Amino acid sequence: MRTVKTLGLLGTGVIGGGWAARALHFGIDVIAADVKPEMEDWIRGAVANAEPALARLTSAPLPPKGRLSFTTDLTVMASRADFIQENIPEQLDLKRRMLAKVSQHAPADVVIASSTSGLTPTDLQRDMTAPERFLVAHPFNPVYLLPLVELVGGAATTPPTIAAAAAFFKYIGMHPLTVRREVPGHLTDRLQEALWREILHLVNDGVATTGELDDSIVYGPGLRWAAMGTNLIYHLAGGEPGMRHMLAQFGPCLKWPWTKLEAPELTDAQIDRMVEGTQAQAAGRSIRELERLRDDSLVAIQQVLRQYDIGAGGTLRALEERLYADAAQQPTDAGADPSLPLRLVDTVVRPEWADHNVHMSDFNYYRLLGMAMDSLYRRVGVDDAYRRAGHLFYSVETHLVHLAEAKVGDALTVSTRVLSVDDKRLRVLHEIRRSRDGTLIATGEQMQLHVDTAAAKACPMDASIRARLDALCTAQAARPVPGEVGRQIGRRIGQPTERPPQQG
Ligand SMILES: NC(=O)c1ccc[n+]([C@@H]2O[C@H](COP(=O)([O-])OP(=O)(O)OC[C@H]3O[C@@H](n4cnc5c(N)ncnc54)[C@H](O)[C@@H]3O)[C@@H](O)[C@H]2O)c1
Repeated sequence: MRTVKTLGLLGTGVIGGGWAARALHFGIDVIAADVKPEMEDWIRGAVANAEPALARLTSAPLPPKGRLSFTTDLTVMASRADFIQENIPEQLDLKRRMLAKVSQHAPADVVIASSTSGLTPTDLQRDMTAPERFLVAHPFNPVYLLPLVELVGGAATTPPTIAAAAAFFKYIGMHPLTVRREVPGHLTDRLQEALWREILHLVNDGVATTGELDDSIVYGPGLRWAAMGTNLIYHLAGGEPGMRHMLAQFGPCLKWPWTKLEAPELTDAQIDRMVEGTQAQAAGRSIRELERLRDDSLVAIQQVLRQYDIGAGGTLRALEERLYADAAQQPTDAGADPSLPLRLVDTVVRPEWADHNVHMSDFNYYRLLGMAMDSLYRRVGVDDAYRRAGHLFYSVETHLVHLAEAKVGDALTVSTRVLSVDDKRLRVLHEIRRSRDGTLIATGEQMQLHVDTAAAKACPMDASIRARLDALCTAQAARPVPGEVGRQIGRRIGQPTERPPQQG
């Protein structure tokens, strides 16, 4: 199977737009095909709408964004794409016909996947050319923020197809979950439908409003579901004996039963109750407003989970490891010019980083310097193994100079220059700039000390790390030393420094 440089999309509605935003963000080109020419504007709008939240998902260095092109001719898309994702309406005959057509124009080493919510792959691949490269890859809305994608192979699908799809989805920050056997609705929609059916019953029976039922999830189970699924949560609910006790205690309820298997009839009255209920919950907010709120919350939740390396937070960590590793392969961010400071952080000022003035608050400048140091250390080989062996750099001195304002929503970069390095000490200068116009927002000069953590004493760094830092320092030494370096508080910028940095 191919390395995916261009993702082809068939159908550019809600889900096609979500796939486009995710792929482009992680540097994959997208060629999108839809029968309606007006969908070109729509998909460009959808990508732009996703960007503010996506931009805040991670501060790891990203490759240049992919390019988006659009066509109404599916054969053009099929012949140019390295991987094709179909997202047209959920109708078996239509999907089968279109997938057969796409497969005639896509080379046989191009994987073709369907976003279908519930149709089975064996049914879909029936009329395809080279059906062994087809699978279901079922994502969740918003595709650009939710990492889950269910992978389901049909009777003709081969294991390398599933493996190639899983590798691609991981590359763009997703969590591929391979479903062992094809069943209508796959796994997640089957579970979601069970909940949805009970909601319809409870509203129909006048037991609760849509808002009350949403509260019953949002304030309780929904919070824990983000970290642990129902099964592990129930294991905890059984106390020390775990799931066995849980089943003994609550198993009998299954016989009562609390729930109803058949969905209720969708009468006009039922539909009205559902619509009125959700309109009351929206309380005048537009779909776009609610999407933004949902997206901001999804980003924040994943960042918290990342700290605990659990659920979607673990996926985010794995993505960041990959992004840092890829960035470390680049000799400098400027490509040709190794004398430029290394561009180590690309980020956006988040609402929670601001003070009452919507300006970035002081301690977040330190956060950015810390992120830049983490990134620099990865590049020179300070990794988990090195830290586990008891070696680290500690910040022993920092001097921040504030030069312009950074406001919520501003995209910022941090570029770092190695001023000097010896066996135990590393002195760097970070420049925090506004990405839009290159304005220098702040500089941060730092002295880092290499320590043996067990002995709590400074000690020489590993020779290979020293050599990499030396190489950076030498390459960057040709640049003039900025006036901020070695500056004391109160001294005007531009006055000569008292302590020019020394090599070694
Ligand atoms: N909406 C969701 O939450 C969600 C979640 C996961 C999966 N899915 C699945 O994704 C698929 C698409 O759903 P959606 O919500 O994006 O639908 P949508 O109606 O928003 O978009 C479908 C798009 O397909 C286009 N289209 C129709 N026929 C076409 C053809 N022959 N060739 C090219 N384009 C064509 C339409 O013009 C439209 O732009 C469905 O299979 C659905 O089950 C949806």
